[in-house]
Amino acid sequence: MKYLQQMVAALAAVALLAPDVWARKTVIPVETEHTQLVLVAQESGVLQTLHFGAKISDPTAFEAFRTGRGTDNGEGPMAYPTVGGRYLGQPALHVKYADGYHNTELTYERHMVQRKGDIVTTEILLKDKVTLLEVTLVFDAYQKEDVICTHTEILNGGRKPAELLEYASGSLNLDADKYYLTHFHGGWADEMQMDGELLTHDTKVIESRRGTQVTQCNNPSFLVSLGTDRLQENSGEVVAGALAWSGNFRLSFEMDEAGRLNVLAGVNPFASTYKLSAGQTFTTPDFIYTFSCRGAGQASRNLHAWARNYGVYGGGQVNPTLLNSWEGAYFSFTTETLLRMIDDATSMGLEMFVLDDGWFAKDYPRNGDAAGLGDWELNTAKIPEGIDYVAAYAHAKGLKFGIWIEPEMVNPESNLAHNHPEWVVQSPGRELYQSRNQWVLDMSNPAVQDFVFGVFDNTMKLSKNIDYIKWDCNRTVANFGSTYLGTEQDRFYVDYAQGIYNVMRRLREKYPDVIVQCCSSGGGRVDYGALKYFNEIWTSDNTDALTRVFIQYATNLIYPACVMASHVSAVPNHQTGNMTPLKFRFDVACSGRLGMELQPKNLTAAERALADRCIRSYKQYRDLVFTGDVYRLASPYEGDYYALMYVSQDQSRAVVFTYCIKYQNRAVGTHVFRMDGLDPARRYKVTELNVDRSSWWGSGQSHAGDFLMNGGFNPVLLKTFDSGVFYLEAE
Ligand code: DGJ
Repeated sequence: MKYLQQMVAALAAVALLAPDVWARKTVIPVETEHTQLVLVAQESGVLQTLHFGAKISDPTAFEAFRTGRGTDNGEGPMAYPTVGGRYLGQPALHVKYADGYHNTELTYERHMVQRKGDIVTTEILLKDKVTLLEVTLVFDAYQKEDVICTHTEILNGGRKPAELLEYASGSLNLDADKYYLTHFHGGWADEMQMDGELLTHDTKVIESRRGTQVTQCNNPSFLVSLGTDRLQENSGEVVAGALAWSGNFRLSFEMDEAGRLNVLAGVNPFASTYKLSAGQTFTTPDFIYTFSCRGAGQASRNLHAWARNYGVYGGGQVNPTLLNSWEGAYFSFTTETLLRMIDDATSMGLEMFVLDDGWFAKDYPRNGDAAGLGDWELNTAKIPEGIDYVAAYAHAKGLKFGIWIEPEMVNPESNLAHNHPEWVVQSPGRELYQSRNQWVLDMSNPAVQDFVFGVFDNTMKLSKNIDYIKWDCNRTVANFGSTYLGTEQDRFYVDYAQGIYNVMRRLREKYPDVIVQCCSSGGGRVDYGALKYFNEIWTSDNTDALTRVFIQYATNLIYPACVMASHVSAVPNHQTGNMTPLKFRFDVACSGRLGMELQPKNLTAAERALADRCIRSYKQYRDLVFTGDVYRLASPYEGDYYALMYVSQDQSRAVVFTYCIKYQNRAVGTHVFRMDGLDPARRYKVTELNVDRSSWWGSGQSHAGDFLMNGGFNPVLLKTFDSGVFYLEAE
């Protein structure tokens, strides 16, 4: 009898163990139309990445696959590496448990796949059997766009609180002979400067610790070219990625001893240990990435298509051309100034007038940047008739109307600063440093979130004719801290960024149709976290067309042209002294969302005529800028020209922009550009726009697509700042 009982107990033990002992490999393909991420839950339960790249018809072929190098167990890299076990590289996840231990070893529990339209979602549940931490890796695979968005849900399944010390959104394992990293750095008026290097062993980190992303220094995005030592536009394998997060971020690129590259993207853990109480879940932001075997060009087109369809608020829509009051009037205006600018905008054919900074605050009037921020009531000394009067005037003229706010900030010289000193980001006993004469409001505090919501909401109530809000943000955080968070200061940076999103979510529910521009001293807060709520970005305060060539080229590697606000201003202006011709300035601005930012009455008659013509012709092709596929034909980072084109999805129309940025000696002759993305078998009528006399012998004629793509297009661009815009229509 006793023997029988022992037998039953032994059998029961085997049954309980069965899922582990008899487990087989589980291959989990995450696929789009042309790309594939192959994850494998090994017999041990460890989830690993075996492939990310071009699609293989039968991913189960990976069941028998062994990399045979680099790790003790001879298996591939961990799909979501944690501190613990035998892993010693950069972790995606680092948890400190209540007992003080730091080890987490995740094993596969189960996964689920669901399809909704174009998106196939795969959720993989991993668990640490000792601490009961549960990690769900979520992959949304956008079929047509060839883009994968991943985020991670981290659940504290234990009974005691745990601390998340590092908590990346996702990890991407790449395997190639070499890796060329392209990333973006910059500063005020110099955003999105392309930088790059061939990665060597160990870790390269791109990050932000600025709190608010202003006067951008790094952008949360990258491209990795595989097996080559430079970024190629039309050939080679390229992985491009971006983190959808407007707070501190960290991207790390670690080449291990076996030569494999592990890319991690996530919230920057800097001063941001996140406490998870028992039963609580932390959800990371999205890490968006794509694979291309046609170089950076296809990678950009994939990201742009995804952005237009899913990633940018109002992504498919064409936004209006506009005149912004900033560089034309700065803080010095009256109602009369604004009405005359509206008249001029109307007569030039623009479609919106945007009243920038300077319209508000009574007790501490906003006549410069030293006072008034925080006091969002109209300055009746400047506009006694009211905002509604100006907005209605614009509408009566057929223009839309927009207005500027900077709701996250406060000048010490304001009623708000006096009434709510506790709302300012601060740390007890430490100096409240000013930058642009202002302090940052503590967006981690729900009362501040309500206030910021109210600034937008109340501004919208100033007139039913407000169609557009320019949301600015002009300084980074110093001496970070929150009176609201008490002893939980570690939450500051994460709660701050989530605070902005809380407000934007509420605003979008109430104001789904208002166009909102994300400005952060120019292109500071340019990321796919912000773009979920904002229609466009103020690409840079630098409106100098030559500098813009570099900024726009690099911005466009990751972000689509539909978000790129691009304005024509006077020369010289407060950013640079480059005396670029008006035509060059227009031709550059027309490759994004066109606007003007100057005093139109200062234009000569000839300049006005050119402006009118450029604005008129822009309307003929701008749908291509907003919705077409981009093909970059020449890089200003590599030579003396910048050229790009946008092609309609059906390849029946296109617009080509060409710019010369360095004098060509006469011996060089004309440069031949190879158009791209056209139908080789169709004929296209090519018309040069924005000119009296064409710079290309073939303008006004029709040409075969293959002729244009294989070497026939050679407009005369000899002098610095020569430029040309060409419109193509299939016959
Ligand atoms: C910074 C922005 O980038 C400018 O366009 C302008 O709106 C100013 N702020 C206004 O203060």
